Amino acid sequence: MFHACIAGTGRAVPGKVLTNADLTRLVDTSDEWIVTRTGIRERRQAADGEVLSDFCVEAARQALEAGNVSVKDVDAILVSTVSPDAPIPSMACIVQHKLGAKKAAAWDQNAGCAGWLYGLHIADGLIQSGKARNVLLIGGEFLTRYADYTDRATCVLFGDGAGATLLKATKSDRGVLASTIRCDGEGAAFISMPGGGSTHPPNRPETLEQRLPFIKMMGGETFKVAVRSMVDVCREVLQESGFETDEVSWLIPHQANDRIISAVGERLGIPKERCVVNIDRYGNTSAASIPIALDEFVREGRIKRGDLILFTAFGAGLTWGAGLVRW
Ligand code: UT7
Repeated sequence: MFHACIAGTGRAVPGKVLTNADLTRLVDTSDEWIVTRTGIRERRQAADGEVLSDFCVEAARQALEAGNVSVKDVDAILVSTVSPDAPIPSMACIVQHKLGAKKAAAWDQNAGCAGWLYGLHIADGLIQSGKARNVLLIGGEFLTRYADYTDRATCVLFGDGAGATLLKATKSDRGVLASTIRCDGEGAAFISMPGGGSTHPPNRPETLEQRLPFIKMMGGETFKVAVRSMVDVCREVLQESGFETDEVSWLIPHQANDRIISAVGERLGIPKERCVVNIDRYGNTSAASIPIALDEFVREGRIKRGDLILFTAFGAGLTWGAGLVRW
């Protein structure tokens, strides 16, 4: 039976760098607080006129080239995002057109920061069932466009960028060994953007007056449940596939907070030097954070054929998941 392997990766981030020092001019914060509480030193910010789908397309082209797959052979394009170019049509349709992937079905999914892992699980299922052979899985976000630059508790966290992965059908020992995705809608208020949908439509003045189309987060509560949930699903995929944590070559987690990454690594028994961290340079890019980190790591030549990679993420919904992949 076929299953999915990660055959190519790519990334594209805006050129503009927003440093912690820049943020001290907008809100009452400090480089020291942001670095010690989150690990973030700078993040990328899309300039006026820049469009997220262009970044997704650039990342996707790199992934196709790395995977040696022609755009005409792409069966499906899945974009994980909470910040699409526009509510209609989906980002994936815009990306499909810009790429010229005529044969590909295309759709978006909103699974918050766990979006890439949701996509991995679904794409592997499509490939296992024989419904697709080549799936482009893209995580792209322009979260700085939804950050409230009057709320120091959230605006310092988010950054912009896109990462892409090409998932290809294989019968080899490479690829997805196990994956799981979870949800608990009871925690919806932990991370939310209350305005901009049909409850508080963007065309009503009070929506903006009440600052509803901005990301809100209950940080401390989210922190605790994020660590616990990611550790649980990591243990689950390891157990399902019969591996121990000391066999994991790299943990590539969602980049929400360096302290969360350390806590997950410590509880699993994976030392920090085997945890991939780039939050210092990009901040939290939600569904884009794992594919951006993966692509950087791959292009730095850090991952070898046969390495065992554990992915995990947690985000709005609440959603979370884990995946174990043989490189
Ligand atoms: O990506 C999706 C999943 N997201 C996450 O998993 C994020 C989880 N949460 C977190 O990463 C952390 O909770 C935050 C980084 C968001 C916040 O860190 P914290 O250590 O939980 O801080 P806190 O919210 O408990 O705030 C501690 C103090 C407060 O002051 P008082 O009440 O103790 O006087 C805040 O007002 O830090 C203050 N504070 C700040 N101070 C300077 C909050 N934000 C800032 C800031 N600069 N930017």
